[in-house]
Amino acid sequence: MIGKLNHIAIVVPDLTLAANTYKSVFGANVSDPVSLPEHGVTTVFVNLPNTKIELLHPLGDGSPIKKFLDRNASGGIHHICYEVQNIIKSRDKLLGDGYRILGDHEPSVGAHGKPVIFLHPKDFFGTLIELEEI
Ligand code: CO
Repeated sequence: MIGKLNHIAIVVPDLTLAANTYKSVFGANVSDPVSLPEHGVTTVFVNLPNTKIELLHPLGDGSPIKKFLDRNASGGIHHICYEVQNIIKSRDKLLGDGYRILGDHEPSVGAHGKPVIFLHPKDFFGTLIELEEI
């Protein structure tokens, strides 16, 4: 079902500091901040040769990552994203096998304009997993 690791998302308390750290300390290729109001996040992409790191910071009061930052004041790994060929087939297989999909089970449009779903972390060893159709 899963293919490449698309990205690892890290919630950070200070997006500018985090972006500058990846740029100046690690010498990484770092994007400008992109605000995604519909997702309640501002994100910076760190483009690595084999994958991406998404630095996430809450945007707005209802941000889904605000609680995470409240519990992890210095930041932390939030989710990992694997690529799949067909999001609907993947979803139906997982649901059929008894796994939990977060939300209403319908794919939403993720940070890259592609359909995504999130899998319940308790079903996958404490890791929030995003599947993205490529
Ligand atoms: Co993601």
